[in-house]
Amino acid sequence: MAPDSTLITGIGELVTNGPGAADRGGFAAITDAALVISGGKVAWTGPAARAPAADSALDAAGRAVLPGFVDSHAHLVFAGERSAEFAARMAGRPYTAGGILATVRATRSASDGALRANLRRLAAEMLAAGTTTLECKSGYGLTVADEQRGLALAAEVTPEVTYLGAHVVPPEFAGDRAGYVDLVRGPMLAACAPLSRWIDVFCERGAFSADEAAAVLAAGRAAGLGARVHANQLGPGPGVRVAAEAGAASADHCTYLTDADVDTLASAPMVATLLPGAEFATRHPYPDARRLLDAGAAVALATDCNPGSSFTSSMPFCIALAVRDMRMTTQEAVWAATAGGARALRRTDIGHLGAGARADLIMLDAPSHTYLAYRPGVPLVAAVWQGGRLVSGRL
Ligand code: NIG
Ligand code: FE
Repeated sequence: MAPDSTLITGIGELVTNGPGAADRGGFAAITDAALVISGGKVAWTGPAARAPAADSALDAAGRAVLPGFVDSHAHLVFAGERSAEFAARMAGRPYTAGGILATVRATRSASDGALRANLRRLAAEMLAAGTTTLECKSGYGLTVADEQRGLALAAEVTPEVTYLGAHVVPPEFAGDRAGYVDLVRGPMLAACAPLSRWIDVFCERGAFSADEAAAVLAAGRAAGLGARVHANQLGPGPGVRVAAEAGAASADHCTYLTDADVDTLASAPMVATLLPGAEFATRHPYPDARRLLDAGAAVALATDCNPGSSFTSSMPFCIALAVRDMRMTTQEAVWAATAGGARALRRTDIGHLGAGARADLIMLDAPSHTYLAYRPGVPLVAAVWQGGRLVSGRL
């Protein structure tokens, strides 16, 4: 093999997601397997008995190896916390988008250093739990300078940076929604597009209407950004339709769907990204993943990590919720948290362990992927490799 190759052998179950991993639902795994990493990429996978020699070798001793999780939806640039709001919800108060403004106030007044420290802490938490790629949105700044600052910080931890100036209308524009939409798709976009890969809009009652969202997404597309949409989170609405019309890579949340929305998700080249941490923490009903999968839609799972509606950074927690409460099989949930997330980010180099993929992988302290749901809440991720480098954990 090429210089500095590493053989991991004795793998009880190797989840590869197969060659057509970007296809809808292509979970695949090999038992009694081995994998060779070389040059930061996966060089070979197959039965342990047929493994080629490498410069170094390590024995997984029957443990499972999976692609690293791809968390395709997170809001990590913020200051402060909203535990009192969470406690009030658990005592019966409903979730409203209005809580976002409390985080906007705290974020605007925080120093760069404080925002960076919080962001890095959360990114490190994600990595230790097996997330090797994360997407990160702005959206708690809502001025040109604060959105720009949030995106520049996000770019320090990931290339998957998303401009979310259209999160909510900030208080200084309360009497001038149109003025804020013009800012978001005009000067704010011009300042933020060079720092971003994606543009997102919260299309929901209490946030942005279908027309407003479409205008923002069209401007973002014209500036070279890919589209994503917060859609149908808190009630039925136009989000999924707006996402499809904008050619979005992903419609996220998808909690309240009509049959027409499900048809749209199944036929558009778009992923339905489900965020069960949000339903957990807002006491909304979980989205029905089975209905989407049976219709032929591609489903991703992500954390939505943010201080208001879903303050978890754990993809294993989301997998467990999806299996227990969203009618996903363990295979479907793991595919959604890896290859599904990659597809939602239009990436083919991650989310699977086919030859040539980035060597982003995790080893569990367990013999199979099933344990991620079978042992909920237990930190099973023993080791994490990113680009072939061991970056977290114990062997
Ligand atoms: O995805 N829905 C909009 N944005 C976040 C909530 C953010 C917040 O409550 O601070 C979400 O759930
Ligand atoms: Fe979100």
